[in-house]
Amino acid sequence: VVLSQDEQKRVAAYRAVDFVQSGMVLGLGTGSTAVHALDRIADLLRRGVLHDIVGIPTSKQTESIARALKIPLSDLDAHPVIDLSIDGADEVDPFLNLVKGRGGSLLREKMIEGATKKFIVIVDESKMVGRLGGSGLAVPVEIVPFGWSYTLSKLKALFELERGFNAKLRTRVEEDGKEVPFVTDNGNYIIDLYFENGIERDLGMLSDSLLRIVGVAEHGMFLGMATSVIVANKDGEITVIN
Ligand code: A5P
Repeated sequence: VVLSQDEQKRVAAYRAVDFVQSGMVLGLGTGSTAVHALDRIADLLRRGVLHDIVGIPTSKQTESIARALKIPLSDLDAHPVIDLSIDGADEVDPFLNLVKGRGGSLLREKMIEGATKKFIVIVDESKMVGRLGGSGLAVPVEIVPFGWSYTLSKLKALFELERGFNAKLRTRVEEDGKEVPFVTDNGNYIIDLYFENGIERDLGMLSDSLLRIVGVAEHGMFLGMATSVIVANKDGEITVIN
């Protein structure tokens, strides 16, 4: 049997939920992989296998899915210490650094997953990269809407000498065909950074440089945050990297 990408996501998610224990405060991730973990948690709650779980959703989308699944919810203000977070990622490098935020919820994810004792990342094998930014997909940066094109020019200046670099405001197309900025759960915009061969510079230094730009709220590189990564491949094999 060859598993589809979605089946691989489910296999990884279910394995991660094995680490959930009754009484835990859980960070609930966002995206098509994390949703399988939500389904599984809800199922175990329904069957009484798990009880006394409190979920802290990392996005409005996850909040409404979890609510529909009847997972009890709270927030970071009430639970500043989270036992376990389970979330997907867009990219994972060999050092377990991540790119997240293709779905747009990086800021809440980073706050919640940063407040977590154990952060398990769940991915299908397509997410594994040699270098962040290496899959050709965007490295997202959340910025405040005020002066966005000024902030965009500051971001571009940071990579002036980088061959094949590009940065673009993320947009979406409305029903009437009009193109408008994509707006995050926090009312912010997103600038997507694209690198031809992935990010070749020191990630920690790059993180600092990005965060020093005044209009930047957060970026989608999650450095040194993941405790373990659970990868499922098309043969249904699971690898846990710690
Ligand atoms: C949401 O903004 C993201 O950070 C997701 O966690 C990430 O994009 C992974 O999503 P998928 O599981 O849908 O690939």
